[in-house]
Amino acid sequence: MVTLLPNPLRVGLQQEKMPEPQILVIFGASGDLTQRKLIPAIYYLRRERRLPPQTTIVGVARRDWSHDYFREQMRKGLDEFSEGVGSEELWQEFAQGLFYCSGDIDNPDSYQKLKAFLAELDGQRGTRGNRVFYLSVAPKLYGEAIKQLGNAGMTADATKTRVVIEKPFGRDLGTARALNRVVTQYCREQQVYRIDHYLGKETVQNLLVFRFANAIFEPLWNRQFVDHVQITVAETVGVEDRAGYYETSGALRDMVQNHLMQVFCLTAMEPPNSLESDSVRTEKVKVLQATRLANVHDLTQSAVRAQYSAGWMKGEKVPGYREEHGVDPNSTTPTYVAMKLMIDNWRWQGVPFYLRTGKRMPKKVSEIAIHFREVPYLLFQSAAQQASANVLIMRIQPNEGIALRFEVKMPGLEVRTRTVEMDFGYGTAFGKTSGDAYDRLLLDCMMGDQTLFTRADEVEEAWRVVTPALTAWETPTDPALIPQYEAGTWEPAEAELLINRDGKRWRRP
Ligand code: BG6
Repeated sequence: MVTLLPNPLRVGLQQEKMPEPQILVIFGASGDLTQRKLIPAIYYLRRERRLPPQTTIVGVARRDWSHDYFREQMRKGLDEFSEGVGSEELWQEFAQGLFYCSGDIDNPDSYQKLKAFLAELDGQRGTRGNRVFYLSVAPKLYGEAIKQLGNAGMTADATKTRVVIEKPFGRDLGTARALNRVVTQYCREQQVYRIDHYLGKETVQNLLVFRFANAIFEPLWNRQFVDHVQITVAETVGVEDRAGYYETSGALRDMVQNHLMQVFCLTAMEPPNSLESDSVRTEKVKVLQATRLANVHDLTQSAVRAQYSAGWMKGEKVPGYREEHGVDPNSTTPTYVAMKLMIDNWRWQGVPFYLRTGKRMPKKVSEIAIHFREVPYLLFQSAAQQASANVLIMRIQPNEGIALRFEVKMPGLEVRTRTVEMDFGYGTAFGKTSGDAYDRLLLDCMMGDQTLFTRADEVEEAWRVVTPALTAWETPTDPALIPQYEAGTWEPAEAELLINRDGKRWRRP
């Protein structure tokens, strides 16, 4: 139980804010992300009056849609994937700012047509040349889109135009570097917003506040007090209908290089000098630069991949990964990855960070667990008295909150110890759950705040950390050698071994 104090700390990552009127141009507007995430986020921001009424959206895709058809599709998306349009009046006003412009990503004429249309809209809607170009297209087209935008002169004004690039940013270190080269050829870094939706999650941002707005945790946040850290992102869903993408990606590229690495950085980085975007991002880069897989000479000691096999989820039989629609029956693509990272710096030397992520796990849960050291001297020696080490658990989702486990004496004449948990839940404390990550990220981008977006060097460093595993797993392997875990269960024995070898166990959140 947590009581909110009447005089809350005035710690805000940002104050209430309203960006200038602008046009959000979504490339790949007929795709899933636009309907599921982007339009609901913009609609929510409009409803909350966080965006000016002139805010305009132009969807771009190959299909030959009319403005009205685009509006209808977006309305359907709001009904299906969010709370619906609510007030009809608000929807009518919002819909007047929705437009569609068909075009091909690699055709210069399409960009000329778009450019003219945007200029016309500036006059109609008062958007003053402010643009956000959101690339929600196949990742292999990012470079082409940026080149075409650049050649059409559409990114020339670095103060008024921004480009948002979805993950994955590259397929490996080499392709990420190549894409960064294209980006820097046509844009300044200040215009580039590499999105990782985990950074938009309230609880991920809270890591900074929790660590740096409290005096009592930071002194413990180091090798002297911390035994090890476990970062878990478990999902119950399987590959769904994304086999085409997932087969070329797998858990290492899809989750570890980006989402888990970002959570890892915020957990392990040094305090930044300020909350300015470059201060925070520089600290993240520094911790990544000091990070390596625990044992690159024997990868089995530091990284495990696996695939889900057929099993049961909530009483229903579900197929194994290789039996999923669109998946190669001999696929070696991992749906589960566990790794052990070490950080060679003064704060963390010798403290293992265990990261794991998997699809078709028994529970959807993302959390960071800081396992503190055992007490140095066991005053309490008998079995009934044995003290467990303290654990601090930061729940990213669901049931967002923070819990601290510690030992107490059980009531009674004997000295018996017992582990108890002190729990703070966002839902109970604030009476509301956090919004969607895209609300926050789109607003920040429109405001020109890059703090929650990844910088070029950060993406490259994250790729560098996972490269030994990526390279080893890229070499053709007998599919029979890929460890399997039954859908609806936790990790395979190989991943258990990864951590048991160090005398530790995975948490069962
Ligand atoms: C996406 C991955 O980036 O994140 C998906 O491509 C994954 O495979 C998703 O399911 C998880 O996001 P969240 O917010 O549901 O934890």
